[in-house]
Amino acid sequence: ALVDGSQRDLDGWHVVVSAGGTREPLDPVRFLGNRSSGRQGVALAQAAARRGARVTLVGANLAVAAPAGVDLVPVETTAQLRDAVRAAAKDADVVVMAAAVADFAPAHAAADKIKKRADGVTPAIELVETVDILAELAHEPLLPGQLVVGFAAETGDATGSVLEHGRAKALRKGADLLVVNAVGHGVGFGTDTNDVTLLDRAGEVVGRADGTKLDVAHAIWDAVVARR
Ligand code: CTP
Ligand code: CA
Repeated sequence: ALVDGSQRDLDGWHVVVSAGGTREPLDPVRFLGNRSSGRQGVALAQAAARRGARVTLVGANLAVAAPAGVDLVPVETTAQLRDAVRAAAKDADVVVMAAAVADFAPAHAAADKIKKRADGVTPAIELVETVDILAELAHEPLLPGQLVVGFAAETGDATGSVLEHGRAKALRKGADLLVVNAVGHGVGFGTDTNDVTLLDRAGEVVGRADGTKLDVAHAIWDAVVARR
C-alpha cells in the first residue's frame, strides 16, 4: 500500500468519518463516557483528505486536533452523532464509523446536579440502549451503492477469540467492511499504533494492516477503493 498519500484515488469522493467517543449526560456536569481519543478516526480523515476526498469528520469529544482541510462537525452525545452522520451521509460515497459509540445512555438526565443524600441512599442509574448507527446505515442504506465501514474493538475471552467475535459482529452488523482490532493489551485505545484485520460482510478476512494509525488508515482506504 502507498502510504505517502501521493495517490489521488479519492478525488471526487465525499467521505464521512465519525471519530472519538460519545458522552451521555447524567446531569448538567456529569456524563457516561469512554476512553477513545479519536486518533484512528482522525488519521482516516487525514488520509482521505490527502487522497483527494472531501471529508466530513463527525468528531465526538476528540482528544486530538482535527486535521486541516476537513469539515469538522463537533458532537457530544450518541443522538447528536447519529443526526450529524446521517445528515452528512446523504451524499456520501463512504461512511466510516470509527467512533466509540456509547451502547447505553441514562434513561433520564437530571435537570439539576445530582446531590448526595443525608440518609446515605445512593442513586441507581437506569440505562437504555442507544440506536446502533452502523447497523442502521448498513441495513437501511441512505444511498444505493454507499459503502459502510465499521470498527470492532474486541478482546478474546472464554466464548471466543478476537477474530471469532469479529466474525460474529461482521455478520450481525451488515457493514461492507469491518475493521477488527484487539484491545486491552497495550494496543488500540490511546496509542499511536494499531494492528487490524479487515473482514467483509460475510466475516471473511480480506486484509490485515499494522503500523501507525496513519499507515492503518491508508490500508483501510486501499481496501475501500478495491471494493468500490
Ligand atoms: N456502533 C454504532 N452505534 C452504536 C454502537 C456501535 O454505530 N450504538 C458502531 C461503532 O462505531 C463501530 C461498530 O458499531 O463501528 C462496532 O462497535 P462495537 O462496540 O465493537 O460493537 P457493538 O455492536 O456495540 O457490540 P459490543 O459492544 O456489545 O461488542
Ligand atoms: Ca459497543
